[in-house]
This record gives sequence, C-alpha cells and structure tokens, in this order.
Amino acid sequence: MSSTVISNIAALVTNDPSLGDRSPLGLVRDAAVVIEGDRVVWTGESSKAPATDNRVDAGGRAVLPGFVDSHSHLVFAGDRTEEFNARMSGRPYSAGGIRTTVAATRAATDAELEANLTRFLTEALRQGTTTFETKSGYGLTTEDESRALRLAARHTDEVTFLGAHIVAPEYAEDPAGYVALVTGEMLDACAPHARWIDVFCEKGAFDGDQARAILTAGRARGLHPRVHANQLTYGPGVQLAVELDAASADHCTHLTDADVDALANSRTVATLLPGAEFSTRAEWPDARRLLDAGVTVALSTDCNPGSSFTSSVPFCIALAVRDMGMTPDEAVWSATAGGARALRRDDIGRIAPGAYADLLLLDAPSPVHLAYRPGVPLVRAVWRRGRRVEPRPV
Ligand code: NIG
Ligand code: FE
Repeated sequence: MSSTVISNIAALVTNDPSLGDRSPLGLVRDAAVVIEGDRVVWTGESSKAPATDNRVDAGGRAVLPGFVDSHSHLVFAGDRTEEFNARMSGRPYSAGGIRTTVAATRAATDAELEANLTRFLTEALRQGTTTFETKSGYGLTTEDESRALRLAARHTDEVTFLGAHIVAPEYAEDPAGYVALVTGEMLDACAPHARWIDVFCEKGAFDGDQARAILTAGRARGLHPRVHANQLTYGPGVQLAVELDAASADHCTHLTDADVDALANSRTVATLLPGAEFSTRAEWPDARRLLDAGVTVALSTDCNPGSSFTSSVPFCIALAVRDMGMTPDEAVWSATAGGARALRRDDIGRIAPGAYADLLLLDAPSPVHLAYRPGVPLVRAVWRRGRRVEPRPV
C-alpha cells in the first residue's frame, strides 16, 4: 500500500483537541499529514513527518477534514424556480410546495433521477463534501420511495427513509391511512435500503403523535431516527427527537427554553441548515443560544429544490458565522466533526490516525477564510478515502 505525505500545511484542522493548540479544532501549525490506503496514519509537525512513497507540498495553505453534509434531499427531478421567484416577491414558504417535486420525481426514470443525483454529488464534492446523507421523500408511494432509497444507496451509506415528508396527495383526505401505509407496507419495502428514518414534524406535514408512531415503527425495523423539527413553527419535534434518542434534530429554528434544555441534556445533535432560512427569507436559527447551552451543533446544506437549493457547505459556514452567531472555528467544527456526530460516526470529520483520509486543501492559509471570503471557491483539492478526487493542480 503506498503512502503519501501532505506537508508544508500552514494550519491543519484535526478536530482532535489532544493535538496542536488543544482547541476543539486541534489546530496544528506547520503541519503534515500522512495517508496510507484510505486512512490517515500520522499527523504532526512537518519537520517530524516520516518518510513516505509520495509527497504533496501544500504550499503554506490550510488543510481540514472533508465536510460531512448530514442532511440533504438529492433524489428528485425538476426544479422550483417559479416558487423561489414568487417567494422573493413576498409569497411565504409552506410545506405544500413539496407536492410539485413529488409529481416530477414520480414521472422521472431511474436514469434521470440518478443523473440528477450524480450531478449534485459532483458539485458538492468539488466544494469539499466527502460524506453526505440523503433522503427519499419525493416519491410517497411504496414503489417510488423504495426506488429513491435504492438509487441513493448506490452512492452513500447514509440513506434516510423519509416517506413521512408530507401526506401523499392521494391520501389528502385520509392522513391516518397514509401513516398506516408508511408504517406498514412502505416501511417493509424501504427498511432494507436505509440506515435512518426521518419525519417532517411540522404544521402542514405530521404532528407529534403521527411522528412518534412513524419513528417508533422505523426503530422496530432497525432504522435509527432523525427528525425535521421546529423549522417553520414551535412544536413537539425537538422533544420527540430527544425522547427517541434521535441522532439529530434538524432545522431547530423555533425553540423554547425547554427544547434547548432537552437537547443540551441529550446526545441528539442540533443540525442547523442556514441555506433553508436564506432561501425562504426566514428567521435564522440561534446557534449562539444552542452553543452557549452546551448543545452539539452540526451545519449542513439541506440541499433540495424547494427550500434550500445549494450544495455548498462553505456557503452555509459563511451564513452561520455572519447571521447565526457562530465563530468561524465553531462553524468549521460543526460542518465537519458536528456532521459526523449527527451521523454517529467517528471515522470521519477528523484528521487523526485511524480516520478515513477525507481531507480538503484550501486556497487560503487559514480555515477562517471560509467565512472571511464568502462565495469564493476556496477548495483547491479534495482527498476522499485517500484518493485525490479534485483535479486542480496543488
Ligand atoms: O428540509 N422541511 C422539509 N423538507 C425540506 C423541504 C423540501 C421542499 O420544500 O421540497 C427541508 O427544508
Ligand atoms: Fe430537509
């Protein structure tokens, strides 16, 4: 197995507080990383790096773990340009727009859906995303949901069954019938292809009792819960996520003090999705309040054609710093180690011996530039599982 050292790194984010400056980012200056096969085998000061087969000179730039985008909706067809345009002219966002994408997705072939998915994955990888979670939720029939999961599972291990995105249009007059379908036949068909189960627990989608029934049924089939919670209104989603030991409560925009306390006293991560607030002109989630209470925060894109059509984690970092009270260091941690926690993984989101060699070389001397230089394509090179995947010269 050949080994490669990346040396002359001005600032290396390890996310291992026992290294470097002992901060949560575990920042090592004048650093090097050694990769062997798909893993990191050594990190430390450049001058102490062991001999390797190959050498890459980072040229005094920053290196950080690949982004872990723990929340996206990438199996869909069509787009919602008109809806976005109308929203920017003052129309409010509602859960109902999802139906437009459901119709387009059902009408698409497998090849069309997979081509679309691949296009967004390539786009995300270029911007530094080396792990992504993605969901079904635009099929809403047994066949269409299980096909979405099968397609997603060809590209990632982090696949989430979201049959409970909204009540399927055919069941508009019979939401209980739809919950019975999701917890019965649809779950039977979908469970083999997914790791997670999610519910959009929100006004216009599913209430607390329905969400509990769906998540509990999923858990009984070996799927682990995560919840779309408290996005548009206050509600029971966050408390339910904590009660069921969900890996993550996602959105967390409208929180009571009791919601914040519940998160702080749990291992449920609060995943914030600022692309959604940006694209719906909504109130920002208060990351500062969560961090000050001791809640673990992840940052992700929520990439979907309705409420957040961005695949860019750097964009989300910039928003979180500018508008949600996060420091650049906190935002970088949340988009890497935070995302890994939201997926209950410790083999990604950090650069330390034993972790996957998923890393980014920035065209900047410090990770702070991700927020300091918003909108600038700073990701110069990407390694995923030890292999260079971004073809720009280093
Ligand atoms: O996370 N909140 C529910 N689902 C998506 C929106 C999906 C859509 O509008 O198509 C979200 O924002
Ligand atoms: Fe979402």
